[in-house]
Amino acid sequence: MSNDLNVFFKPKSIAVVGASKDSQKIGHAALKNILISDYECNLYPINPHEKTILGVPCYKNLNDVKKSIDLVLISVPAKIVPAIMRDCVKKQVKNIIIISSGFSEIGNHALEEEIANIIKGKNIRVLGPNTMGYKNASDGLDASFVFGVPRKGNLSLISQSGALGIGMIYLANNEFVGVSKIIGVGNKLDIDDDDLIDYFSQDDDTKVIGLYIEAVKNGRQFMNSIKACNKPVLVVKAGRSGAGARATASHTGSMAGSDRIYSAAIKQAGGIRCRDVVELFDMARALAGQPHLRGNRIGIITNGGGLGILLTDACEANGLSVPKLSKKTAARIDEILPDLVKPNNPADLVADAGFYRYEKAASIMLEDPEIDGIIMASVHGGYARPREFTGAILKMIREKKLHETHQKPILGTWVGGKEFEDLVFDLKSAGVPIYPSSWRTARSMMALYLEGQRIQKEQKMG
Ligand code: ACO
Repeated sequence: MSNDLNVFFKPKSIAVVGASKDSQKIGHAALKNILISDYECNLYPINPHEKTILGVPCYKNLNDVKKSIDLVLISVPAKIVPAIMRDCVKKQVKNIIIISSGFSEIGNHALEEEIANIIKGKNIRVLGPNTMGYKNASDGLDASFVFGVPRKGNLSLISQSGALGIGMIYLANNEFVGVSKIIGVGNKLDIDDDDLIDYFSQDDDTKVIGLYIEAVKNGRQFMNSIKACNKPVLVVKAGRSGAGARATASHTGSMAGSDRIYSAAIKQAGGIRCRDVVELFDMARALAGQPHLRGNRIGIITNGGGLGILLTDACEANGLSVPKLSKKTAARIDEILPDLVKPNNPADLVADAGFYRYEKAASIMLEDPEIDGIIMASVHGGYARPREFTGAILKMIREKKLHETHQKPILGTWVGGKEFEDLVFDLKSAGVPIYPSSWRTARSMMALYLEGQRIQKEQKMG
């Protein structure tokens, strides 16, 4: 299909077919979401029985609208959808979202086929059927019927599950991950994962792409799109187990396929497979806010020996290395440690480590050419105040020592309770990825390493 998705995501005029005065109906919510969007466009509710809805003049059908329409949202029962699609063709509408359910996901393949035939050869793009629509936070447009406003940012999300997609909006907000666009692809009659990856690859507002998939329709195209994409692509693929595959078939009517083949193909294409959506956000947060890793050598700084070892194990288990310190770095770190403690990697700054030791140790490791990235960890051991740990990181950000000067990523790990949560909030809002688990930290660092590898490969291929 040649119709690119620019107008689809940035329409100047939108019609909602099945718009309703009834606030319980999906057609009401869809119209309202567009109406309250911070987005300029002509809006046309379509309903044969109403004169106005939510104060907006209403039209009996699409052809009664005299001006052109860039995008149509359809929210009428499935059996009426073909007739509306024919109206769209007549009106020369090029972009359509079919919210309605009742198609292949419940075995009604004939009805979906009928729609496919209506748009055949017409250069029309269709999202759905059985979709929530999309939210374009970058431009302020909500073309969905669901509530929830994502924080503006540069992760674009594609979800085969509507409900999970909605949950991801709230999770993203909680995790301080900003979103550019989020789309429910539904039954993927036309607009598919590969189309969206291709689009986001060229989209200036997107820095990281995340997908929740249960199955792909065209494996080769999907992998080719990931391969050609110049941005990190994070993939959560559900249906790993036999029982999961069975659940997939009854959820969206799709076949989960061989999990091992998926894993190998995603890796080969340069995508990163995530274990679940929380891991997707963990990795997205690191990829969106940190420089990629140029090598796999990690320096670990901690005030708790146990946490340092857990981080070391987690790094090594995920393709990273925690090398011995060079003589020069060891000597420099030795200067800031209490007498009885030896400098090492992980560098244990011991329980009373405060602002000075953290800030100094991090600066020394950032300056070491044999260290590619840093993990700063803190245990609320009831001795030093966690505020000093976060204060050290925030000071380095303020002084631009992090990222700008050294182009090395820095991730945080914390173990503690309530007092820490407030501080974590400060770091997350300053863009520092910090995780309450050594494993999650290491997996996110691994994502930065894989992204570095992908970029190197891309540069080699010119
Ligand atoms: N043109 C325009 N409007 C029409 C037409 C027509 N030809 N025919 C009927 N309408 C109007 C109806 O009169 C009604 O308006 P009213 O309230 O003023 O009477 C409106 O369109 C809606 O039609 P209803 O028959 O009332 O249908 P309803 O709103 O109950 O359901 C819906 C329609 C929402 C599309 C439903 O069939 C459906 O598919 N629901 C599931 C949607 C869904 O979950 N999608 C997946 C999302 S992903 C996720 O999981 C979140």
